[in-house]
Amino acid sequence: MAEQPLPATAREWHLKARPDGWPAPTDAALVEAPVRAPRPGEVVVRNRFLSVDPYMRGRMNDVKSYVPPFRLDQPMDGGAVGEVVASAAEGIAVGDTVLHSQGWREYATVAAGHTAKVDADRAPLSAYLGVLGMPGLTAYAGLLQVGALQPGETVFVSGAAGAVGSLVGQIARLKGAARVVGSAGSAAKVAKLVDEYGFDAAFNYKDGPVAEQLAQAAPDGIDVYFDNVGGEHLEAAIGALKVHGRAVLCGAIAQYNETGRPVGPRNLALAIGKRLRLEGMLVNDHDALRPQFTAEVAGWLADGSLRYEETVVNGIEHTMDAFIDLLRGGNTGKMVVALD
Ligand SMILES: NC(=O)c1ccc[n+]([C@@H]2O[C@H](COP(=O)([O-])OP(=O)(O)OC[C@H]3O[C@@H](n4cnc5c(N)ncnc54)[C@H](OP(=O)(O)O)[C@@H]3O)[C@@H](O)[C@H]2O)c1
Repeated sequence: MAEQPLPATAREWHLKARPDGWPAPTDAALVEAPVRAPRPGEVVVRNRFLSVDPYMRGRMNDVKSYVPPFRLDQPMDGGAVGEVVASAAEGIAVGDTVLHSQGWREYATVAAGHTAKVDADRAPLSAYLGVLGMPGLTAYAGLLQVGALQPGETVFVSGAAGAVGSLVGQIARLKGAARVVGSAGSAAKVAKLVDEYGFDAAFNYKDGPVAEQLAQAAPDGIDVYFDNVGGEHLEAAIGALKVHGRAVLCGAIAQYNETGRPVGPRNLALAIGKRLRLEGMLVNDHDALRPQFTAEVAGWLADGSLRYEETVVNGIEHTMDAFIDLLRGGNTGKMVVALD
């Protein structure tokens, strides 16, 4: 494929202010910036889909974490997939499609070693940001490796209609869980979990205390809790976990925008008598599982036993709105931004 002329400039999102509590649209700005031609070993990617993810909220704070904070007045980054439009790297040609981590922008000049080729014929490009990408691996590794799910067990997952959660529930079922319970934040999401994703029971956590609703949905208790939410959900799950139960601590989205002291769990001492294992996880630790994950998930997608959904927002100018909407629960499945 012939090299295309690069535009002199393109748009990218800069962090302008560090949010205190909920982010505001004005905390970031879309600015025009030069597109740099590739140096040896680099490629230029025209991004087609940008990922917005909950962990980006933490990167807007100026605190040390497992990923460095975004810098003020600099482009934010994150997952993206797109098409190579210029290449000065061996092994990557113009026209190849790649996954990389310079999202939040239209064009990215990236070291080839920081890209991974993806096959646009095997799956839609956006799937590499979701079901076949980071959230998919998080669900797979978290449930099977960290949660050590065994056939016949009962699983509870919060954030169950989101990118990670919707896959956790379905993978649990595919791996022989006896009962799968999910919680989500709207009646429509709850209905979808049961009607389309094969959950045995689901509830809206906004309808009443989580502990009470969980006791109804899983009257005999749970073996594995996949935690995307923290706080009240985690406390309820600790109460419901059986002896030798496991909690996979994947996310705590209920507190990402909280400015006060986090709520609970106040019943952690129950972990002693029940010999619970509560284990934090980071998807980056599970790279070795990627080939197995890709093969198994691709198989489930091909035979129709795994479903996935995306909430697609069109236009780079709406990326910050899409990110804020994600934190508010405006998405079902993976939230992505499509660029023309
Ligand atoms: N540890 C890791 O390596 C890793 C990797 C990926 C993701 N994560 C974590 O996994 C979780 C899910 O990520 P995702 O990418 O799949 O996002 P997601 O679930 O697709 O989107 C976030 C969802 O969180 C829910 N939410 C927002 N505020 C909430 C609250 N106060 N209480 C309960 N639910 C709330 C919303 O759904 P409702 O409408 O249901 O409220 C929203 O749709 C996040 O906590 C994320 O940080 C961790």
